[in-house]
Amino acid sequence: MSLTRTQVGIVGAGPAGLMLSHLLHLEGIESVVIESQSRTYCEQRVRAGLLEQASVDLLVQSGAGERLRREALVHEGIELCFNHRRHRIDLFELTGRKVTIYGQQEVVKDLIQARLNAGGQLLFESEAIGFDDPLSAEPVIRYRKDGDVREVRCDFIAGCDGFHGVCRASMPAGVLTRYERVYPFGWLGILAEVPPASKELVYANHERGFALLTMRSLILSRLYLQCAPDENLDEWADARIWEELNTRCAAEAGFAVRDGPIIQKSVTALRSFVTEPMQFGKLFLAGDAAHIVPPTGAKGMNLALADVYVLARALAQFYRNGQDELLNCYSETCLRRVWRVQQFSWWMTYMLHRFGDDTAFEHRRQIAELEYVTRSRAAAQSLAENYAGLPLP
Ligand code: PHB
Repeated sequence: MSLTRTQVGIVGAGPAGLMLSHLLHLEGIESVVIESQSRTYCEQRVRAGLLEQASVDLLVQSGAGERLRREALVHEGIELCFNHRRHRIDLFELTGRKVTIYGQQEVVKDLIQARLNAGGQLLFESEAIGFDDPLSAEPVIRYRKDGDVREVRCDFIAGCDGFHGVCRASMPAGVLTRYERVYPFGWLGILAEVPPASKELVYANHERGFALLTMRSLILSRLYLQCAPDENLDEWADARIWEELNTRCAAEAGFAVRDGPIIQKSVTALRSFVTEPMQFGKLFLAGDAAHIVPPTGAKGMNLALADVYVLARALAQFYRNGQDELLNCYSETCLRRVWRVQQFSWWMTYMLHRFGDDTAFEHRRQIAELEYVTRSRAAAQSLAENYAGLPLP
């Protein structure tokens, strides 16, 4: 059996696992990243696309933000569309912070490149299958590669393997408490080769359901429609998607969502999920392995990066002077931000979606809330502060 020894064994090569490996390297700490998918798959998977200022700063300050600085789109505001009108929230004026559009797969590409340039060990097509005791002094990660079972021995394990990963699933029963809310809808998302309909993101509350206009570049649009959680994509011919986007985002005369070739279509169910604690012995969970937010607040990738920032700092303290204070409060530190973001994401989701059993009262209440948020500076500032994101702990 082949055996590797490292300081930190990281499961998952998404933004969390790769950023952790990168930050640890800058601290002189060695890691191995184990990822079940191929490098190409990781670099092409279309996911989230919005970075808070703090996430951008982390990428840039850690030296992985060069292409981001050249190619990303910086936005100073967002728009909320309801009652057939668009209302702008000026994030920058309200908070002094901006948000940045840069696809998750671009972050992944940049971090993979940074790790490879530094001689980092990334094991693709290597499926983690379990651990030996996370409570032992030297935990072991077992993984399958080319049909063989192999091992990585390490001081610590970082579970960055997403909601369906093995890390959380292999924690002993009774250690974790799950907090969960599953929403009665999903998002149908498309990627289309057409310039964005609006310069900034548009979040629409319409009686037929929520819609979101976002983008990946000045020639690539990303658009979403609220749908059933198990919506059948076969029922959504391209023309129907464009028509529905236009209906739900209808605003002042002259505003239209222009169509173009759709190059990707998918359905994602929405959920809010937190597991507590985020640590068991030498195993630390980060990103989607520990929590999921509905995408309405654009927080998933940002929360994952915040987790590993906290974890990298705690591990650096441990390796520098043997202290484990920061490691011991990893879970508590992260969960404070996680719950703030959970609350915000839930609130945005409630303000903007149809729930199926909504009464006329509920719709009027949503509109009153949207009017408050767009007319009151205090309310707009609260949305903006959360949306543009809190500073890293
Ligand atoms: C995206 O660009 O994919 C995106 C942006 C904002 C959201 C969700 C998704 O709230």
